[in-house]
This record gives sequence, structure tokens and C-alpha cells, in this order.
Amino acid sequence: PASAHGLPHGGLAVGGVSLAEIADRFETPVYVLDEGEVRARCRSYRDAFPDADVLYAAKAFLSRAMVRWVDEEGLGLDVCSAGELELAVTAGFPPDRIALHGNVKSPRDIEAALRLGVGRIVIDSPSEIARLAAAVGTGGPQKVMVRVVPGIMAGGHEKIRTGADGQKFGLALSDGSAQHAIARILGRPELELTGLHCHIGSQITEVRPYLAAARRMVGLMARVRDAHGVVLPELDMGGGHGIAYRPGDPSLDVAALARRLRTELIESCAAAGLAVPRLAIEPGRAVAGPAGVALYRVLAVKRTGGRVFVAVDGGMSDNPRPALYGVRYAPRLVGRRSPTAPCVATVVGRHCEAGDILAADVELPGDVHPGDLLALPVAGAYQVSMASGYNMVGRPPVVAVDNGRARLLMRRETLADFHSRDIGG
Ligand code: LLP
Repeated sequence: PASAHGLPHGGLAVGGVSLAEIADRFETPVYVLDEGEVRARCRSYRDAFPDADVLYAAKAFLSRAMVRWVDEEGLGLDVCSAGELELAVTAGFPPDRIALHGNVKSPRDIEAALRLGVGRIVIDSPSEIARLAAAVGTGGPQKVMVRVVPGIMAGGHEKIRTGADGQKFGLALSDGSAQHAIARILGRPELELTGLHCHIGSQITEVRPYLAAARRMVGLMARVRDAHGVVLPELDMGGGHGIAYRPGDPSLDVAALARRLRTELIESCAAAGLAVPRLAIEPGRAVAGPAGVALYRVLAVKRTGGRVFVAVDGGMSDNPRPALYGVRYAPRLVGRRSPTAPCVATVVGRHCEAGDILAADVELPGDVHPGDLLALPVAGAYQVSMASGYNMVGRPPVVAVDNGRARLLMRRETLADFHSRDIGG
């Protein structure tokens, strides 16, 4: 799905703009985002889930332009900090279509959420209940949900699995901590519990774990009704929809998820004697990931120690994902006139550690040389948003392409930006 399309002579284009042209104009490394692709992905979610609220998970990638696109395509927004929230609202996003998440919300997060009037706050721990209720005071009630751990194992990597007991997010069904928090919230007049939330993990490529989680969530809704006489009207099933990082990798079939989740909810609600709740979902990666391409310049090629190293001008400060989760990408060289015999190369970054590998043992043209442009497709999610200041290299700019035109969304972080924070004390 990576939206890097071939041009004659082996060039690559995104959104009708050649990547070579983008590198000339904006320099490298640079992140390129295909606006049309982002919008199309938002629309296909709306089409697949016409009766649900689709909230884009801002942590995947957020900028003022992204906020506008998501708003114009009719999605809501999931944020997890005052920073994401304030950016979204100052860019014009309606706060009532925003949900605030996070396993721990700082006083600053809660203050911003209440001041700006977010639609839902998703409670993740008992400590949050009294704190939030006190902050709301007589200004409420604030609509809240509870994040439940349904006890489902799913997700692409240990660090992004959140559906089973023993990780930091949410409150477990299995030991009654979710039920206990629900009872306490129902006793607080400052809070209005609208429903339950779960997010079982990320980079999930099968529908089945979502169905199992939905069954358990409906079971809990029935228990809430039995214990408290309250029918909760909303169910948020989180995000986590997996995408293919390389051609041929598996991805989640979103249309199948929509269809089967709907059937599952109808059946388990009927069995429990409940009305089907209003569904919400929160895809992040599946909206932004395939719409982005990272573009680097090859600065060095060396054959040593039995390997071919292709070193580029970015690395783990703009993409920590291979180092963190062992993700495998399929980088390509841009602008090759004729295919030469391939070599197996390891694409590395410029950072001062051996783990700074962007793509280990991938096939590249055998004559790869300094000056070549290297494109890393499927780079739209969790790269720019996770970029760091490591080694004071500076975070890359983000360029949007659409209908043959490129424009800068976020400028490159300069050395002056870095140095200005250090006030010498
Ligand atoms: N909703 C909640 C409550 C979440 O915590 C997340 C992601 C999402 C929705 C969106 O998940 P998505 O659809 O994007 O998978 N940095 C990792 C991913 C961490 C995901 C954290 N939560 C990565 O680069 O793979």
C-alpha cells in the first residue's frame, strides 16, 4: 500500500511529485506525507464503519494540517497529552469530538481537558477518579469512560501488547479492578460514565482478537447493568489495526473487522439482553502509516566484516522503530536507470550506536553509492511523532504532497533550535 509509485527510469513519486524533486527542494532527510492517501484512508474507515465514531489516534502523527484533514473527513481524535490536545484545538478541531487517553494524566493534562471541553476522558486508574472529580467540581459532569483490560493477547510486539493482564494500561476484568473503578465512578456526581474502552494492542493483523475482546466487554456491560441498574451506551474498541510494512506482509482487513465486529456485537448483546452500544474505534497507524515515505541521502557505503553497510543521513532519531520493535522495512533506491545485480545490504543511520539500523539485510542495487536517494515506504506513523533529539542531529521536516504539488508542513529542526534551549546555567 505504500504510496510510492514508480516513474520512468526507476524514479519514485508520491502524490504526483517525484521524490528526487522533493529531496532537491527540501533536502534530506525528509518525511513525505501523501495528503490524498491520508484522506482516502479516513474515508474508507468512515465507509466501513458508518454507524461508529472513528477517532484518529493522534500519537501516530500529528500536525496542524493533519488535524484539518481528519476534521474535514469527519473523524474524531484520540489524544494522550495536553500537548496533542492543545495543538488539535488551536488548529480548529472541535473539542467535543476529542477523547483524552493515557495511563497517567498530569495535572496539566486534566486542566487542559476541562478548560477546552474534551468530549471524553478515559479513566485508567483509581487514583484518577477522585482527582478528576475534584478538578471538575461543580462545572460538570464530565463524560468519562473506563479503560478495561479484557485479558486478550494480541499485537505485533511485546512492547505494544495491551490486552492482557500484567502491563501498565487499564484495569483488569479478571481481578475485578475494572468493576471496582466503575462502581466508584458511578458514585461520583461530577463524572458521567458513558461507556467502556479497551485497546488490546497495536499492529494486530487478525480480526479474531477484536471479536473475543468485544464479547468480554459486552459481558462486563451486562454485569454493570445487573450490579448497578445502569446501561452504558458506548463501547470504544480502540485501535491497533495492523498494516504491511513490506510487500507481502499481512495487514488487518478493516472491512472484515467492521462486518464481523458488528455481527459479534449484535449477537452478544442479544444474548445479554442489551441494546447494541454506540461503537467507537481509534485507528492511528492504519490512517497515517501507509501515506508516508521517509527519504534519506546515502552518505557512505562500505564493505567490511562480511557486510555491506549503506549509511544514510538520518537514523534512529527519526525512526526508532526497528531498534525498539524489530520492525522490518523495505527501502528502495530512488532514480535508478537500470537494475544492476542486487546486493544484500544493511541500511544504517548516522547515530553513535551499533543498534542504529534502519533495515538489516535488505536487497539493494549492487552499485549503491554515496549520493543515492533512499526511500523508506510506510513511514507515516510513529516516526515523526517518536523522533528524538539524540546526537543533536535535528528532526526532519515534513512535506505534504497532493495533486502534483509539495508544500512544507513542519520545518526542519535547526541547530539553533537545539542550542537555544540550553541557557547555560
Ligand atoms: N487507542 C489507544 C488507546 C492507543 O493506545 C493506541 C496506540 C491507539 C488507539 C492507536 O493504535 P494504532 O491503530 O496506531 O496501532 N509506537 C508503537 C505503537 C504504539 C501504539 C500505542 N497506542 C509503534 O511504533 O509501533
